[in-house]
Amino acid sequence: MRQLASPQVAMDFFEHIREDINTVFERDPAARSRLEVFLCYPGLWAVWYHRLSHALWTLKLTLLARIVSQIARFFTGVDIHPAALLGRRLFIDHATGVVIGETAIVGSDVTIYQGVTLGGTGKGQGKRHPTVCDGVFIGNNANVLGDITVGQNSRVGAGSVVLSDVPPNSTVVGVPAHIVYRGGQRVLITDPHDIKDPLSDALIALAARVEELEKYSIGLNQRKLHTEPFAAEEAERSAYREELDRLRDYVSMGEGI
Ligand SMILES: CC(C)(COP(=O)(O)OP(=O)(O)OC[C@H]1O[C@@H](n2cnc3c(N)ncnc32)[C@H](O)[C@@H]1OP(=O)(O)O)[C@@H](O)C(=O)NCCC(=O)NCCS
Repeated sequence: MRQLASPQVAMDFFEHIREDINTVFERDPAARSRLEVFLCYPGLWAVWYHRLSHALWTLKLTLLARIVSQIARFFTGVDIHPAALLGRRLFIDHATGVVIGETAIVGSDVTIYQGVTLGGTGKGQGKRHPTVCDGVFIGNNANVLGDITVGQNSRVGAGSVVLSDVPPNSTVVGVPAHIVYRGGQRVLITDPHDIKDPLSDALIALAARVEELEKYSIGLNQRKLHTEPFAAEEAERSAYREELDRLRDYVSMGEGI
């Protein structure tokens, strides 16, 4: 039985490696050949190291698994906890600085750039890292924090900090991240209540005050129009009279010369 299983395992192993290399070749326009991908993509090596460390982790060889993941970190700059669950065809581009926490789950066909953290918020135990669904793209130096879900085929902008669930087929950007595209449609924030930011309360108060002042100013203008219907014309006429008087003085001075 074991003899029968071995060739299959070996085939799966090489099949996965071929699939990983093809994935990078298809997604990175800078890749010139499959040999180059095999030799020069530390993000790929990180995924392969993780397969080994994860296998050791599931065999309860936890210390050995951690050692392998630290060796991987040394050589690739990618720190993936051995318990993290990674799907197929994960592409970690540029590798350096990527951190994937213990309870993170990453689906298939996910692309992650350098500096991305799939981390915890520092609060709580148990499932405390994100779930990233299939086809997600995460731009460089983005932080996705806590037990949240990034929905299928969504995109996280470079440098964003994602603190809440992202619906499928959406694009989120900013700190903290907010949705700018959903289902291909641009999402514009017009209500300050929709801004999730430490300054939100101040913005909401400011918007309310501006609205109040606008109403007050409209009321004032209407009252003035009502009580003095010809005020504007009268002001124009008196300005004209003053100008005429000034010119008359000037002309009378000229007559004496
Ligand atoms: C998020 C991203 C995928 C969106 O791309 P897109 O669909 O072309 O989006 P747009 O350029 O139309 O941007 C939509 C809005 O979000 C803003 N925005 C886009 N990316 C942003 C980011 N990373 N941070 C903050 N705001 C961002 C834009 O300024 C624009 O706002 P505006 O319309 O008010 O000016 C892209 O901007 C991004 O961040 N890609 C990551 C690239 C990366 O990591 N490269 C690493 C190479 S080594």
